[in-house]
Amino acid sequence: MTRIRQLLSLAVLLLLPQLSPAADWPNFNLLKADPAQLPKPETVKIDHDPVYKSAKEYEAYPLSEILKKIPAPPSLKADELVVVFTAADGYNVSMAYQDAMAEQGFIAFKDNAAEPQKWQEFKFGKQTVTPAPFYLVWPKKGLDEWRYPWPFQLVSLSLQPAMTYFGAAAPAKADDRINNGFKLFSRYCIRCHSVNLAGGEVGPELNVPKNVTEYFKEQELPGFIRNATAYRAGTKMPSFESLITPDEAQDIVQYLKQMRLEKTQ
Ligand code: HEC
Repeated sequence: MTRIRQLLSLAVLLLLPQLSPAADWPNFNLLKADPAQLPKPETVKIDHDPVYKSAKEYEAYPLSEILKKIPAPPSLKADELVVVFTAADGYNVSMAYQDAMAEQGFIAFKDNAAEPQKWQEFKFGKQTVTPAPFYLVWPKKGLDEWRYPWPFQLVSLSLQPAMTYFGAAAPAKADDRINNGFKLFSRYCIRCHSVNLAGGEVGPELNVPKNVTEYFKEQELPGFIRNATAYRAGTKMPSFESLITPDEAQDIVQYLKQMRLEKTQ
């Protein structure tokens, strides 16, 4: 998470009407939590912390244990939910609920290289900041940051329906394939790509003004989605061959084709 991305996300939050303020959804306020509600802390070692760019050690609560304490919005399945992490300045970032439950994430509350209540500082743009009060970390090596975010200065987390959180990128009309395509898209793609300008800005917008299926050969799209390097040398788009089957890539294309009929501009 670079400063520029944080500023951009903040601008997006300020400019767009907020469809779903975090407080409307079941949430866990880390600052106000009763100590009895918090899970048993663990010591967590990080080989390469992306914020400090060095090895670190923290005292931290297991993320999945905290998530178990948040009631899921009724009538929704695990693959229809996102976990939204909110920082003190209102910045928020999401990840798929199923990824958050399956991988070992930790919410750090103490930096073991600093005095209690203090954290080592790091440079963030022109500022010097710390990740306090809470910081999401992932001890396993090699996890992709676009799928497993490291938000700092966290204050709360909430569970929200992906359909609501991603607003304009969610299909209004959907059959099973389109629905499945949207689930996959919101799990694997939306951190980098927007649809109807809802989503990330690392990769190109895929629906407005032209939907990608209007200028890309449709039969080539599943292949591109699974392995962009086979099409463009040096692409920044990761490979999805081990995560997405050819059939699932077809579902994503069906979802993208549907959004062609649901352009917001
Ligand atoms: C880590 C960021 C990232 C993720 C995750 C990602 N992409 Fe991309 N994608 C990019 C970038 C950057 C480009 C454009 C430039 C390039 O080819 O390097 C791109 C290009 C594309 C294009 C071509 C668009 C065009 O007009 O050229 C499509 C289609 C696409 N991505 C679909 C997807 C889908 C579907 C997923 C999820 C399965 C996905 N991407 C996940 C970064 C990402």
